[in-house]
Amino acid sequence: MIRPGRKRIAVLISGRGSNLGALLAHELAGDVVVVGSNRADAGGLERARSAGIPTFVLSHRDHPTREAFDYALVDRLNACAPDLVVLAGFMRILTPVFTDAFAGRLINVHPSLLPAFPGLDTHARAIAEGVKLHGCTVHYVTSELDRGPIIAQAAVQVEDDDTAETLAARVLVQEHSVLPWAVRLHCEGRLAVEGLRVRVLPPPT
Ligand code: GRF
Repeated sequence: MIRPGRKRIAVLISGRGSNLGALLAHELAGDVVVVGSNRADAGGLERARSAGIPTFVLSHRDHPTREAFDYALVDRLNACAPDLVVLAGFMRILTPVFTDAFAGRLINVHPSLLPAFPGLDTHARAIAEGVKLHGCTVHYVTSELDRGPIIAQAAVQVEDDDTAETLAARVLVQEHSVLPWAVRLHCEGRLAVEGLRVRVLPPPT
């Protein structure tokens, strides 16, 4: 249900959408008004449909360049007038066409403790580097890949017998709690960005 006066949230996914599920299960001080994917087979689309949320698919394969895809995606999202766009497992590198269009209202969840391990295969790389702490980061998106003001992080211990899969599963549990928390604070207007730092403001009294 979309309630007047509440923040309008668009979510982009590429896969199973467990982070989308976490968003839908929490009070966000806003409503998810649309879920988009670059893949028609993204499992999260079904999750959105069964929650009664409009969905769309925009395939990057139908666009000749990254910029052309990003322009089309910006148009598609703007039609829904989002106050916030959340990248919840959206596996596309975005150009400034997209990141500038939603600057300050674009949030990503990344499965590492940034700035360590930007990019792909974060869990295997963390194990290979022998780090003892790994985790996830929710951050505002800028034109630099997996960089931008950090809103929240959560860490897990790396155990001696961890595989990329077991580690990913424990990190995912953390993603499911920090992402909704960060989205709610954004929707409540309680995040103050100063350079790369994000301060959480107290709730209004
Ligand atoms: C998450 O680990 C996210 O951080 C990464 O891709 C995964 C998506 O999982 N970018 P899901 O589709 O939300 O289940």
